[in-house]
Parts: sequence; structure tokens; C-alpha cells
Amino acid sequence: MTDDERLQHALEIAREAGEMIRKARHERNFSQSYKAGEELVTDIDVAVDRHIRDRLDATFPGEARLSEELSPDRSELAAEGALWVVDPIDGTVNFAHGLAHVAVSIAWLEDGVLRVGVVHAPFLGETFTAIHGEGAWCNARPIRASRRKELSHSLVATGFPYRRDSRPPLMRRLAAVLEQCQDVRRNGSAALDLCDVACGRLDAYYESVSLWDFAAGWLIAREAGARVGHLYPCPEGIPEALYGENLLATSPGIHAELGDLLRRADAGELNGP
Ligand code: IPD
Ligand code: CA
Ligand code: CA
Repeated sequence: MTDDERLQHALEIAREAGEMIRKARHERNFSQSYKAGEELVTDIDVAVDRHIRDRLDATFPGEARLSEELSPDRSELAAEGALWVVDPIDGTVNFAHGLAHVAVSIAWLEDGVLRVGVVHAPFLGETFTAIHGEGAWCNARPIRASRRKELSHSLVATGFPYRRDSRPPLMRRLAAVLEQCQDVRRNGSAALDLCDVACGRLDAYYESVSLWDFAAGWLIAREAGARVGHLYPCPEGIPEALYGENLLATSPGIHAELGDLLRRADAGELNGP
């Protein structure tokens, strides 16, 4: 099957998932609980994950799948072969609070290389797609990342982990970005942050997240001409496309400068908290 055919299947499945999410909100028909004490999850996250699993299994039997709610364990996955990576709802807190930044994220990798990505935002009416080497689109129109060159005029998005005790070290980065850049956004969906970088609404995004949060958006940003990478070298043996720590996606012209700023903030070399 070609990448384009895979994309069409993933797109159809993501739209079905989006309909489930819209319906659940419209009917106010979902329950909430907390994973590991602090991480909000709803029964719709699980139901959507199940639907996507069933549809992928029926269409691509035997292909491996990693998904946030049903199969989050990466340790058993080989880097070779086909792999679907699914976040049934990226932006669960937004979903539960009635906010619009909510997305279904589906990526397909072959031998550790991102080949197909779909990020579908049912409340925004936007569907972002990309195919390795062929480009990125929003609602089927080609998109392009920002060409901004000045850090001082750059709008930068980030996010924070659910674990509150992991947040304080990130305050130094935040202070540095607020000091040096136009402003900061925390929109609550890593997948959509990356898509907003892809279409030039945001000039940069940095965060440490899980594979299902960034896989599809990463390909979309890269294919749209954003520069994507990591603040620090990735551990040996892990393909870059599978490593979610210290991600940085930006307009090409600010990548080096913003990377330096964030690393200096980590090292405590700047004024701030
Ligand atoms: C979260 C969102 C958020 C990011 C968190 C993620 P979820 O995903 O992408 O923007 O800051 O780190 O966990 O839990 O809504 O799927
Ligand atoms: Ca997520
Ligand atoms: Ca999720």
C-alpha cells in the first residue's frame, strides 16, 4: 500500500474519532478520572482509542500499534517494521473543560522513519496531514512554517508535564523565553502546537512529551519546512523520530538561537527564577 493510501485510511479513521469526541461533548456524556494521581483521563479517551484500534487492526492486520490509553508500553516494540502511533485525544484537559484545542493524532512509521501523519481537530474544523518527502497540508491546502528570523518577535509555545514536581526546572526556560521572545502560548495540545508551527501561526514550540503526543505533528511541522530537532543529543540506538525529550520545532531562522537560549536557561546561566 502506498503512503498516500495509508494516509487516506488514517484520515477516515481520525474523522470518525473526531465525530465521537464531538458527540460526547455535545451530549455532555463522559466521565473523568485520574491516572497516576494527577493525569486527567475520560472514558471517551479510552472509547476513541478502542475505535481506532479496531479500525487499524481491521485495515492493517498484524501491524504494531502504540497508543496512549490501550497500548502505551514501548518496551516490547521493535524499531523495525510498521508502527502506528495513536493519541486518541491530545488535549484531554481542554476536552474536559470545554475548550477547543483538542485533536486526534495518528502517525505511521516504517523502520523508525515517520512516513504518514494526521492531526484532526474536530472543534476547530482543521485537519493537518503530511507524507514523508511530499509536504504538509491543512484541510488539503499546502502549509508552510514561519520564516521569522528575530527571536524578539517570535511567538513560542510550550507545555508542562502533569506531574507538578517536574515543573519547577521548566520555569527557568519559561522566564528566558518571556524575557527574550514576543510571548508564550500554552494551548494544551502538543500535536496542535506542532501543527501551528507547521502553518506559521507559531514560530516555535519546545517540550518533552511522549511519542503519541508528537509523532504526527512532528512530521507535519518538518514537511512544512519547520526545523525540528532536540535540545540535547538523543541516546544512541533510539531513532530521533521516536525520542520525545527536549523537542524543539521552529522557523529555521531562530532554531540555533532559541536552542542556545533554552540550554543556557537549563544551565542556570541567565537571570530568572
Ligand atoms: C498532553 C498535551 C499537552 C502537553 C502534555 C501532554 P494529553 O497530552 O499534549 O499539551 O503539554 O504533556 O501530555 O494528555 O492531552 O493527551
Ligand atoms: Ca497527548
Ligand atoms: Ca491523550
